[in-house]
Amino acid sequence: MHSTDIVTRAFSAMSDAGRDPEQREENPPAVRVKELSERDRRRLLMHFLELNESDRLLRFGTPLPDELITRYVQRMDFTRDTVFGVYDSELKLIGVGHLAFIPREALPVIAGATLKKRVAEFGVSVSDSARGMAVGSKLFERAAMHCRNADVDTLYMHCLATNQTMIHIANKAGMAIHLDHGEADAYLKILPAHPGSVLQEAVEEQAAGFDYAIKANSRAASKWLRNLPGYKVD
Ligand SMILES: CC(C)(COP(=O)(O)OP(=O)(O)OC[C@H]1O[C@@H](n2cnc3c(N)ncnc32)[C@H](O)[C@@H]1OP(=O)(O)O)[C@@H](O)C(=O)NCCC(=O)NCCS
Repeated sequence: MHSTDIVTRAFSAMSDAGRDPEQREENPPAVRVKELSERDRRRLLMHFLELNESDRLLRFGTPLPDELITRYVQRMDFTRDTVFGVYDSELKLIGVGHLAFIPREALPVIAGATLKKRVAEFGVSVSDSARGMAVGSKLFERAAMHCRNADVDTLYMHCLATNQTMIHIANKAGMAIHLDHGEADAYLKILPAHPGSVLQEAVEEQAAGFDYAIKANSRAASKWLRNLPGYKVD
C-alpha cells in the first residue's frame, strides 16, 4: 500500500470522517462537548445564521434577524460566559450551548431558589441535520456539570411552552418546570462539586480536545494529499 493511503486511512479510522453513512447510522459517533473560545467566533456565527426563523424564535424568544445574530455573536464574552460546542467531522459546529452566569437578583423568578450570589442561564441550539442524536442533551449535561464545578447550584432555562423537545430534555434532567402564559421557566438544583465531578469534566474536555485535534489533522492530511501531484480520487 502507498504510504499516503496509510496516512489517510489512519486519520479516517480515528475520526468519523472516513466512516460510511450506514456504519455511522448503526453506531453513531460519540458526542464530544468542547469549551469554545475566541477562535470559534466565526463558526458560532455560521451555526446561528443557519438556524431558520422558527428555530431562532425557539432559541432567542424572538426570530432575530441576521444583523442582530451577528451582533450577539460579536458581543459574546468568553471570559465572562462559558460556551460549549459540538463539532462534526468537518469541524462545523452542529450544537452550541451558552451558559451565562448572572446575579441571582437578575432572575426574580428563581431568586428564592438559592442562597448563592450567582445563577446560571442556559440556551442551546442544534443544527437541523444533527437533531435527535443526543447533541442537545449532552450539551445540557455538560453545562450542568460545569455549574456544579463552578459553585453555582441553580441552572435556569427559559423556553416557549410549545417547545416539546426542550421540555422533554428538561423533564429528563429532573428540572422543576413552571408554565405560564405560553412560556416555560425551568430550573435545576445542582449538587455541590466533588473531586470526581471536577475530574470528570477535565477528562471530558481532554477527550473533546483530542477529538478536535484528530478531525483537524484528518482534514489537513486530506487537503495535503489532494494537492499532491498525480493524486486521484477513486
Ligand atoms: C431543542 C434542541 C436543542 C434539541 O436538540 P437535540 O440534539 O435534537 O436533542 P436530543 O437528541 O439530545 O434529545 C431530544 C429528545 O427529545 C425528544 N423529542 C424530540 N421531539 C420531541 C417532541 N416533539 N416532543 C417530545 N419529545 C421530543 C427525543 O425523543 C429525545 O428524547 P430522548 O433523549 O429521551 O430519546 C433542538 O431541537 C434545537 O436546537 N431546537 C431549536 C432551538 C431551541 O429550541 N432551543 C431551546 C431553547 S433554549
